[in-house]
Amino acid sequence: MPLALIKKKPKNPDSRKSKSPKKVFNRLFENRLIHRLSHKDYRDTVRKVYDGPQGSFLMACSLLSLHVSLGDRLLRSRKFDVRGAKRILDVGSGAGQIAGHLVRYADSDASITCFDLSPGMVRRAIGRLKSHVPRFVVADLAHLPFADGVFDCVTCGYVLEHLPDPRQGLSELARVMAPGGRMLLLTTEDNFGGAWTSRIWRCRTYNRKELRQLCEELGLSWRKELWFTPMHKVFRAGGICVEIVKHR
Ligand SMILES: C[S@@+](CC[C@H](N)C(=O)[O-])C[C@H]1O[C@@H](n2cnc3c(N)ncnc32)[C@H](O)[C@@H]1O
Repeated sequence: MPLALIKKKPKNPDSRKSKSPKKVFNRLFENRLIHRLSHKDYRDTVRKVYDGPQGSFLMACSLLSLHVSLGDRLLRSRKFDVRGAKRILDVGSGAGQIAGHLVRYADSDASITCFDLSPGMVRRAIGRLKSHVPRFVVADLAHLPFADGVFDCVTCGYVLEHLPDPRQGLSELARVMAPGGRMLLLTTEDNFGGAWTSRIWRCRTYNRKELRQLCEELGLSWRKELWFTPMHKVFRAGGICVEIVKHR
């Protein structure tokens, strides 16, 4: 067969080929639960974690880790610009950390839909935000109860790492996003900070290049990588933070 006809096999987004000592250490330290349980059992575990006492500390953890203040700055400074978006979806809204920013910075006539797998977290978010603007739903990112192409803006903060297979969640997000729609995606990276987070919140981490490649396959282009602070850029402590756009 002529060489030109031999197609390069697409890289499996879960294949972690790098064997640098740092990567090996991170892999050893990272929580492996997600790879041991069936998808259903794992989802039940995630729901229990967030429904239970650990979920009630989520807001405090987000405040301490500066996720709330830095997330606020990201939207306030328009690094991720929500102006003009009319149908916004907040994925895995947790205690309403990002939903709160959306209420503040989105257009007053924008509709904001928030969902979470954990009914306990939905109750906490509603109680904390005390706003009639966001509509809350209990739903699973892997099976979204929304029609195709309805959202022009999506925020997904530290949720994708709770799925054993990112393709499931990302393809659902690509489905419900309108062509040209934009998404703010935050997720844990395969470094020490990510491995540490995976231990606390029973999640996994992603390799930046592999996740980007998977997004491309699903018609989701990385428009720009965002950094909360220069320290974040150097140490990658806040993980992957990126603006994504769905192909037209
Ligand atoms: C770390 S919190 C993130 C909360 C918020 N988005 C933020 O940026 O701070 C993760 C949230 O994702 C939710 N979650 C996990 N897996 C999910 C899934 N498959 N579908 C929907 N929500 C999910 C959890 O219940 C939890 O509330």
